[in-house]
Amino acid sequence: MLKREKVRIIAIDGPASSGKSTTARLVAGRLGYLYLDTGAMYRAITLKALRAGVDLDDEKALEKLARDSTLRMNFENEQPMVFLNGEEVTSQIRSPEVSDSVSKVSAYPGVRGAMVALQREFASDIVGSASGGKEGGIVAEGRDIGTVVFPGAEVKIFLTCDLKERTKRRYLELESQGISRSPDEIRENLSKRDEIDSNRENSPLLEAEEAVVVDTTNLTIQEQVEEVLRCLNSDLEVT
Ligand code: DC
Repeated sequence: MLKREKVRIIAIDGPASSGKSTTARLVAGRLGYLYLDTGAMYRAITLKALRAGVDLDDEKALEKLARDSTLRMNFENEQPMVFLNGEEVTSQIRSPEVSDSVSKVSAYPGVRGAMVALQREFASDIVGSASGGKEGGIVAEGRDIGTVVFPGAEVKIFLTCDLKERTKRRYLELESQGISRSPDEIRENLSKRDEIDSNRENSPLLEAEEAVVVDTTNLTIQEQVEEVLRCLNSDLEVT
């Protein structure tokens, strides 16, 4: 069991709507760590490309667009906010249009290279280098966090969840935002994204060898958070 003080990076990976964001956000809040939603970064780049009318088959143009973007991820009052070139786009990046295109955009190595560099920069601002002596920690979630972005993360979690339950969660999430999509459309989008995210050549969705696998299908949010905190030798109470 790891001592909480020794854990600087917690990596949470898994497919869409498996509970990564809620779990990672709450764990970060409990520990006072930064929450980094890397999917939000790929979504912000996709939003920018859609707005600019960039051809989604044009890898070079998308890579340039990614490199020329300024992304800021805030986590004040435990509320994650995403800024793209200074504009707050937290809710726009969750639109069905962005969800339909993000797997395609995020599969390009050039786009990934730009985002991974930024993710490591965010982390080094918080945790510093091994000898940097900084005190903070980070909970990062995505598809390749434990395998590629932070292979040295002290805790690695891989969340799974069956497609029916993920469809239900996504349906309720969209409904709460006033967006109406049929369960069939949602299921279709999730399985298409699973397929692209898992089979792309560059950094596919994959369990890190040492990852603790947690199936969230029948877990409450509280239980998911407890499962992650259990991996740290923490005496923190989950509230
Ligand atoms: O977690 P999410 O559903 O918001 O992620 C949106 C997309 O971004 C997802 O379909 C694949 C991509 N993604 C990725 O390729 N690598 C990450 N680390 C995070 C997300």
